[in-house]
Amino acid sequence: MTGVLRRPATHPAPAVGTDAEVTIWEVGPRDGLQNEAGVIPTATKVEFVQRLVAAGLPIVEATSFVHPKWVPQLADAADLLTALAADDALGETARDLPVLVPNERGLDRAIELGCRHVAIFASATETFARRNLNRSFEDQFAMFAPTVTRAREAGMRVRGYLSMCFGDPWEGEVPLRQVVESGVRLLELGCDQLSLGDTIGVGTPGHVRALLAAYADAGVGTDQLALHFHDTYGQALTNTYAALEAGARTFDASAGGLGGCPYAESATGNLATEDLVWMLEGLGVRTGVDLDALITTSAWMAGELGRPSASRVVRARG
Ligand code: HMG
Ligand code: MG
Repeated sequence: MTGVLRRPATHPAPAVGTDAEVTIWEVGPRDGLQNEAGVIPTATKVEFVQRLVAAGLPIVEATSFVHPKWVPQLADAADLLTALAADDALGETARDLPVLVPNERGLDRAIELGCRHVAIFASATETFARRNLNRSFEDQFAMFAPTVTRAREAGMRVRGYLSMCFGDPWEGEVPLRQVVESGVRLLELGCDQLSLGDTIGVGTPGHVRALLAAYADAGVGTDQLALHFHDTYGQALTNTYAALEAGARTFDASAGGLGGCPYAESATGNLATEDLVWMLEGLGVRTGVDLDALITTSAWMAGELGRPSASRVVRARG
């Protein structure tokens, strides 16, 4: 397309600085594809992961070892990881692609395949714990405790996701204290990082600042946190910037803005990775991501899924 800039002009922001070391945690193959109505061939998923890694994304979350009846879209998790492990270009690093595990059964499946990086996923609210995990709020911690302990004993890295941090479609507003207490419990179980999820995309920048400040008051700094914004209300990028200014450096994003949660109806796609990279490049912050390769990958995936990409950058670049 003519008349379109291939890169933003660089204008650093003093509150961020060009030396900020930002990590993009790509969730497209997991959060993105768990929500697709149609069946996506495993070979397409393999190529998606391969292309994202080749585009320079440092962390690519590959899939979930959840109950296949709960999320049939990711029922091919074992086949996917086996194919990725056989890829010479990925080699040993295939074992470092994070995978979701809700419980010990999921962990066993991940261990069998040699995974070295897992993520558990909790809810800050009672209703979503029941809907997403078939557990009460309290019981979810009992499910995670042995899962995290065993994963750590096996030498794995363990991320803890916390959903509904900015609002819940059934319970409405979620008190900051409830979100902080739930997250601290995940860290105390042994998670090395906590990803705060705006599962239904309702948060706004002041809310982000307030939540990060509440975590800081509880002794949890931004170095232990990641932000996971869905873009339902168009706030994901501005929320990311607010978190960046407040010192956060790890951001979850999904190539092409794919995503959603099958058990939270009002959830739409995640912050699009291309839109995040565009902003960071404009700020002069290095990401290591090849934006052109990423855009080409998302345009290809949109073709595979048969609908236009949700990413504004992908659409602008045609
Ligand atoms: P359950 O039905 O209560 O399971 O589901 P159970 O513990 O009673 O076990 C029943 C049977 O399932 C047993 O088999 C287990 O072995 C089997 P049986 O003895 O009857 O033959 N089973 C499994 N099989 C394969 N893999 C497993 C597994 N676990 C049990 N891991 C469960 C409980 C947690 C498993 C279920 O609720 C589940 O799979 N939930 C996952 C839902 C999900 O994946 N949601 C999307 C991800 S979360 C998200 O997207 C949010 C996030 O992006 C952040 C944000 O946006 O906020 C992370
Ligand atoms: Mg999500």
